[in-house]
Amino acid sequence: MRPSTRQRTFLLAFTVLCTLLGLGCPLSCEVCKGPGHTCSGKLKKCEAGKDACVVLVGESSTKGRKSVNTLKACMKFSDCYSGFVSTTMGPNDYMVSNAQCCQSDGCNHDSVPPPQNNRTENGLMCPSCIVPFQDSCPGTRATRCVGQETHCIYFAGNVQAGIFNTKFATRGCATQSACYTKPGAEVPSASYLYFLRRADCLPAPQPPGRAE
Ligand SMILES: *[C@@H]1O[C@H](CO)[C@@H](O)[C@H](O)[C@H]1NC(C)=O
Repeated sequence: MRPSTRQRTFLLAFTVLCTLLGLGCPLSCEVCKGPGHTCSGKLKKCEAGKDACVVLVGESSTKGRKSVNTLKACMKFSDCYSGFVSTTMGPNDYMVSNAQCCQSDGCNHDSVPPPQNNRTENGLMCPSCIVPFQDSCPGTRATRCVGQETHCIYFAGNVQAGIFNTKFATRGCATQSACYTKPGAEVPSASYLYFLRRADCLPAPQPPGRAE
């Protein structure tokens, strides 16, 4: 049955009212996840506290296995970074992404340009490690940073892949934009959802022998 005009008027009035009064009106976002540079799904109401829609396209390599995935979802605006992020844990383990955050119903419908993936080494290095099931990792190895990666990160917390939820810890190179991520943040990648307890981000040390 189609909603009556009266019902629709009521809904509109309700939306306007809760916006004006600054009440927590639920936002609706397009929700989907899948391979490729875009995906499309239904509009869904966001759960309480998620006040932004995000569209994110990520290109990743895991032990040399490459994939491109797109995510559209609800998330907390204060955890959402609009722009390019690149992280490298090793020559065959990296992730680049481009995202757009917005705050109106269905605003994440359009796709975003795929991230640039500049794998040229830039002379900087960071401690690196990737461990599942643990919340710290030693970083006794080092990895070479590429492109615009000027910072070293140490992220740890929980990662959720479908119904599977486990601890993880990782260190490596990242663009300065990765420093936007703070402990306590709930951050999606194109494939997983990360709950960060630790999010250290520091400028990469200058390589020895290079004058300032
Ligand atoms: C790729 O990264 C290298 C190292 O930072 C830089 O010199 C080069 O200009 C970058 N290329 C592009 C197309 O951005």
